[in-house]
Amino acid sequence: MVNKEILNEAFIKSIESEYIFDNAPINRLKKNEEKAGIDKKLIDLREKIKSIEDCELKKFAKNIVFNDGNPKSQIMLVGEGPGEKEDIQGKPFVGEAGILLNKMLNAIKINRKDVYITNVVNYRPPNNRKPEISEINRYSVFLREHISIINPKILILMGSTAMEAIFGQKLKISKERGKWKETIINQKTYLSILTFHPAYLLRQPDQKKFSWEDLKNIRKKIDELKIKI
Ligand code: URA
Repeated sequence: MVNKEILNEAFIKSIESEYIFDNAPINRLKKNEEKAGIDKKLIDLREKIKSIEDCELKKFAKNIVFNDGNPKSQIMLVGEGPGEKEDIQGKPFVGEAGILLNKMLNAIKINRKDVYITNVVNYRPPNNRKPEISEINRYSVFLREHISIINPKILILMGSTAMEAIFGQKLKISKERGKWKETIINQKTYLSILTFHPAYLLRQPDQKKFSWEDLKNIRKKIDELKIKI
């Protein structure tokens, strides 16, 4: 018995210390706890948005459209707001703009299910109008909380509504797209990039060349930062 223990000790000492102290099961437990924490925070945020009062958007919408994709992703995309199909299905980017978005992501070898997707406003604006600035400001509080929960390494803001929600009305998307910006949200700095919204690209296909530049730029950054997707 004693001999066996001595033998084991000698064996253990002969192994690289990283194997001895590798606490993978504990890490796995911690990751599960983190995931449960994120899920709970997302449920709470969703409920908070659902209890919003006196909102012209919520009044006419069928469903809340909150999120899609992987909440543990390090890449978060923000669109404008749900359209008709999204309103019916309760899921962002499932209509024509969503089909184009999927293609854009695939072009840089990203599968939609591996990123996290949300919108500035979570209820469909009547007749698909652009959300008013007061609505953008109101929902941007939720969006900021949403970003803090997901805590992405890269934040992709698609279109002028997402830009206004984070930077206000002072910027022009045609001038600012494609530039990496450090953005402070709830006291934390995020790396963000503005790019055209897929719905805009459907209306203005000649602008796709700029979008392609942005996508390649995003792919390069993902590789540089060694982001796992
Ligand atoms: N446009 C958006 O901004 N979001 C959607 O979910 C669909 C279309």
